[in-house]
Amino acid sequence: MEAFDGARVLVTGAAGFIGSHLCERLVAEGCHVTGIDNFDPFYDPAIKRRNVAALQQHPRFRLVEGDIRDLETLRALFADTPFTQVVHLAARAGVRPSIAEPLAYASVNVHGTLTILEAMREAGCRELVFASSSSVYGERETVPFRETDPVERPISPYAATKRACELMIATWHHLHGIAANCLRFFTVYGPRQRPDLAIAKFAARMLAGETIEIYGDGSAERDFTYIDDIIDGVVRAMQRLEGYEIYNLGEQHTTSVLELVRLLERALGCEAKLRFTDAQPGDVSRTFADVQRARERLGYRPSTPIERGIERYVAWLREQPAAAASG
Ligand SMILES: NC(=O)c1ccc[n+]([C@@H]2O[C@H](COP(=O)([O-])OP(=O)(O)OC[C@H]3O[C@@H](n4cnc5c(N)ncnc54)[C@H](O)[C@@H]3O)[C@@H](O)[C@H]2O)c1
Repeated sequence: MEAFDGARVLVTGAAGFIGSHLCERLVAEGCHVTGIDNFDPFYDPAIKRRNVAALQQHPRFRLVEGDIRDLETLRALFADTPFTQVVHLAARAGVRPSIAEPLAYASVNVHGTLTILEAMREAGCRELVFASSSSVYGERETVPFRETDPVERPISPYAATKRACELMIATWHHLHGIAANCLRFFTVYGPRQRPDLAIAKFAARMLAGETIEIYGDGSAERDFTYIDDIIDGVVRAMQRLEGYEIYNLGEQHTTSVLELVRLLERALGCEAKLRFTDAQPGDVSRTFADVQRARERLGYRPSTPIERGIERYVAWLREQPAAAASG
């Protein structure tokens, strides 16, 4: 991979799950990184503070507490540092809560992304990597999902906001020459994973001896992508910024919810108690990434099978004080 020395990167959502891993990787590669995060209470902000605690000791990392919807904050940041690139990860994430709070999702995801684009345009920053989502594919019969598949039928507000962002970025590319890679992440997991996601929720309940709720019959499938593979894909996308492009980043392998429970049982060494409830509106029945484009153009090579990724996640979980207390 090409060297990154001297790059000045703005990472939005830096204190989140993916953002904190990316910032660690970028400073290790020699980049100067400014992270912005508003410590949104979607999940416990104390978790986000822990995510960036070590990073904040690094001389090439700076954390700014602020909201991406505030153009004045962004203007001040760009005036202070002529960023060479922006990696825009800040968002309200999660499919199901977006049905309850569509306005909040539109505000952060759509208005927030527009504000980033305007700040970049004004400052003359011309390189953007954006975190999109596999959810834009909606409910599809044919797998694997390809970047050329139709995506005009999202089935959750979250998915619709992510597709709206891809479209706005295409417009800013056309009008203002911003080179952009939109990366469609497929269910990312690993250490520091968001607590609202299935793997984290299941593992916490299993360690506490509590019952797990399975939506539907457990046959729903996801292409689970290990955090290190996602970060590798993001870094590669930062190094190949020409024009406007969309890339799937997944493992190109699917696992059903019930298979996932079995893997967690094996790694945690305990049996799960299951309760089956209705399938949830907004959830698609499967995701499955075709990563050929990212392979060919970015050299992306995901290399963490779910079995190994779950073992690593559980090893990390066991080191956390809360897990030790309940486990
Ligand atoms: N984790 C996944 O499986 C997954 C899958 C597909 C796409 N994505 C996308 O990847 C990105 C990162 O996801 P994550 O799992 O790390 O989520 P996360 O919630 O851990 O991180 C997002 C961060 O953005 C911050 N944020 C929210 N609103 C903000 C605002 N108005 N101003 C500044 N900061 C704000 C939050 O405080 C949080 O720290 C998101 O855009 C998400 O939609 C994630």
